[in-house]
Amino acid sequence: MEKLYKTWAEIDLGAVRDNIARIRERIGRRVKILAVVKADAYGHGMSQVSRAALEAGVTWLGVSNIHEALLLRKAHPEALILILSAGMEGHAKAIVRHRVTPVICSIEMLEAVAAAARKAGRRVGIHIVVDTGMGRIGIWHERAFEFVKRAARTKGVRLEGLSSHFACAADRDLGFSKFQLDHFKKLLRRCERAGIRAPLTHIANSGAILGLPTSFFTMVRLGIMMYGVYPSREVIKSIPIRPALTLKTEIGYLKEVPKGRSISYCRSYVTYRDTRIATIPIGYGDGYCRLLSNRGEVLVRGQRAPIVGNVTMDQTMIDVGHIPGVRVGDEAVLIGKQGENEITVNEVADLISTIPYDVMCAMGKQVQHRIYLNE
Ligand SMILES: Cc1ncc(COP(=O)(O)O)c(C=O)c1O
Repeated sequence: MEKLYKTWAEIDLGAVRDNIARIRERIGRRVKILAVVKADAYGHGMSQVSRAALEAGVTWLGVSNIHEALLLRKAHPEALILILSAGMEGHAKAIVRHRVTPVICSIEMLEAVAAAARKAGRRVGIHIVVDTGMGRIGIWHERAFEFVKRAARTKGVRLEGLSSHFACAADRDLGFSKFQLDHFKKLLRRCERAGIRAPLTHIANSGAILGLPTSFFTMVRLGIMMYGVYPSREVIKSIPIRPALTLKTEIGYLKEVPKGRSISYCRSYVTYRDTRIATIPIGYGDGYCRLLSNRGEVLVRGQRAPIVGNVTMDQTMIDVGHIPGVRVGDEAVLIGKQGENEITVNEVADLISTIPYDVMCAMGKQVQHRIYLNE
């Protein structure tokens, strides 16, 4: 069939499975893995990544909200699905009907889920989120014990998980993470003394998997490293992972440009020599951030070609004057490897002062076409 797309993401599901295997080696056989596939699997495609993750032995899948949970339920009728963000009371019926597991961090949500479960003649598993310092969702650790006690007594629900979330586990200094961990452990001990036990206890994300082995408990929530990217530049890269995502396009147009011509909107770049400028069909409309204007680079014929001028909505210009033999139709790599060269998600994130998560979600999701390798 004729290939009609010009910009695409290649997602190597073999890399996803291998990364999970490497993480399994680190955490041991007994600790369960929840694969975080929210935000459409960090832009990689939720249903496909979930399949690969389940094949690689993860037990749970974590999504953002009820909408993602229901999409995932269709693709994976039997999977254990945890909704990681605070739900609305109005979602309780759907949670029960579609057998998904909510995190609970308010009395209102606890009662709504319990009532919907009782009405359906069922008991629904819940995971309570305790805020030990993230400052997002969760019952503050000082008050969590009373809440857990109440949940454990509530008919219609079954206390399946106790969880918390690190605010900065990918920092070099793990002082605050240890402080959070202490609060979490204190709560767990208090629950245990009161005879309240949840089969699943989880707090570790990728940063903690690398740096805080005492935080694994019975399950870890694995996100960014499953996709082959380290959570920050500060972590020790002690688990050999490889990126699953490569973002590619093709040179769509090529022309000779004399010295002294301005390139693109606002004329932010002027050629300083006679050169060849290629236009590639990707722009901020595809999630390719406009802040990469005059900063980013693209790989062509194994060499780095700088972005010149402003990235536009659907087209970007690169200088290929130093690369011999460039032709229309040549493959250009925006993220990933080509020949000996590589442009990493972390490199792009640094250039635009953001985090790798942001880059992956933005580009992976908006790009026109996805190709899955090693399915
Ligand atoms: C609640 C929760 N757990 C786990 C993760 C996974 O984190 P990471 O991608 O750093 O592994 C996230 C990601 O944002 C999250 O929000």
